[in-house]
Amino acid sequence: MKRPAQILLAMASVFLAALMAGYAPTAGAQSSTAKPAAGAGPDLRSLYVTAPEVAEGKRLAEVSCARCHGINGISTAKGIPHIAAQRAPYIHLQMRDYLQGKRPQSAMTGAVRFLSDDALAKVSAYYASMDPPRSAAAPARAAAQRPDPVQAGRAAAGACAGCHGDTGISETPGSPSLVGFDPKYFVAAMNAYKSGQRKNDVMKTFAAGVKDADLANLALFYALQKPVRAATKSTGDAAAGKAAASACSGCHGDKGVASDPATPSLAGQDAQYLAVATQAYKDGTRKDETMKGAAADLSEKTIRDIAAFYAAQQPQAPKVRRPLSLTEWTERCDRCHGINGNSSDPIVPAMAAQRADWLEEVMNAYRTGARKSAAMSAMMSVLSDAEVKELAAHYSQQTARAVSFIVLPSK
Ligand code: HEC
Ligand code: HEC
Ligand code: HEC
Ligand code: HEC
Repeated sequence: MKRPAQILLAMASVFLAALMAGYAPTAGAQSSTAKPAAGAGPDLRSLYVTAPEVAEGKRLAEVSCARCHGINGISTAKGIPHIAAQRAPYIHLQMRDYLQGKRPQSAMTGAVRFLSDDALAKVSAYYASMDPPRSAAAPARAAAQRPDPVQAGRAAAGACAGCHGDTGISETPGSPSLVGFDPKYFVAAMNAYKSGQRKNDVMKTFAAGVKDADLANLALFYALQKPVRAATKSTGDAAAGKAAASACSGCHGDKGVASDPATPSLAGQDAQYLAVATQAYKDGTRKDETMKGAAADLSEKTIRDIAAFYAAQQPQAPKVRRPLSLTEWTERCDRCHGINGNSSDPIVPAMAAQRADWLEEVMNAYRTGARKSAAMSAMMSVLSDAEVKELAAHYSQQTARAVSFIVLPSK
């Protein structure tokens, strides 16, 4: 493998390989550039593709594919992906998946039904050798950046700082700290004030002043703050409280850190607030059946002692992921999909210049499980709708490059 003529141009060469070898594991024969993707890829073996085979692929494409994908592999319709310059083994593997019913029933199922594996290989090589699609234009005015939810939360929290502290650590006896709560509990509490189900005139006013869009941002902002004990004093006997609190630990945790998102953590909370809240459940002014039962038989002193015990515990941050920025996401995607989505792994699809509507559709198919992939499904399930849209737009705007593999000089 030393002659320059054996520099293999355009994936077609490396790829047909695998195709014709039927992906039989062939130890030692794998192309040096084709690392198996994401652990679960088939073994590929390089093979040369000849001009007549590509020409035969074109003839097949005219008959079987062009009416939907265009003879150049550039789609003009929503719901149909570009396949020009896509990696050949990926094209071939996907057609096999359609054939075997591994991808959901679609226009493709019928299109590949009567094609032999040899024909699929040739048509894959043909489309892979086409010029790549042109990237979608970026919007004239830079698209409104997704506002950073944590920044937005911080801004909205300014109105709350007077009572709850700048970062949700209370310095005011009677005002609860807001750190250490699961966002679910936080949002539910705010909505309960707003609807009047939870009665507090001050909080009713403040909750009503929070825009719907900011509610989740506020919850996220506080959830991500470093949890520190409230800077307030307690008057109870923490040691006596510890024993009494064993009745509470099933739900609120041994040390006041609850594991269920709907149950508030109590660790490090302002003691006065804890005592007032427990008392409110007991006398029914704060309505919750579970807590009414738990608080019913507690004396005023026990309530104060339990409050002192919990106030002295170390609060913990809830399990919440800081949302990643577009750049942080694409760094992760590009590890498999190549620089700016120009995959150099034969079985990982290129995404650069792909139709945005298609990318979005597929990502959602992974999220719902309609399309299955060990590599993709878990990652997609944590994306929000906004992140999916943003990633799809990003990759559609990248410049697509055909890939060429060269044989490394032998040592
Ligand atoms: C009747 C229209 C039609 C025909 C004919 C057709 N396709 Fe498709 N193709 C589609 C549609 C629609 C999809 C998207 C299907 C889905 O949602 O999975 C698709 C998807 C694909 C994909 C998956 C791409 C990806 O990135 O996941 C490949 C590869 C493909 N087609 C190749 C071909 C080839 C090669 C031929 C000819 C042998 C062909 N198609 C014939 C409509 C068609
Ligand atoms: C004037 C003081 C004050 C301001 C300003 C204020 N709060 Fe409160 N907040 C309180 C008090 C007092 C309570 C306890 C009410 C009760 O007993 O239900 C409370 C309770 C809460 C709770 C319930 C906590 C729990 O442990 O269940 C949340 C959540 C909350 N506030 C969020 C906010 C947010 C968000 C803002 C700003 C938009 C805000 N508060 C502004 C005084 C205030
Ligand atoms: C069966 C589960 C359960 C047990 C046992 C339980 N709790 Fe609770 N507790 C909850 C739930 C759920 C809430 C949230 C209720 C709501 O939304 O008002 C809560 C809320 C609270 C609150 C309000 C916290 C806040 O931030 O507003 C305090 C204080 C509290 N519990 C104290 C106690 C004490 C003290 C005990 C033991 C004597 C106890 N709980 C036992 C489930 C439980
Ligand atoms: C661990 C490697 C890996 C990572 C990381 C990864 N992907 Fe993938 N991706 C794959 C593989 C392998 C496939 C082909 C799966 C299949 O056959 O369905 C794929 C397929 C896709 C497809 C389908 C393309 C088409 O035309 O059908 C999209 C869209 C996609 N990935 C987007 C992303 C995005 C966006 C990210 C980052 C958030 C990402 N991927 C991260 C390995 C990865």
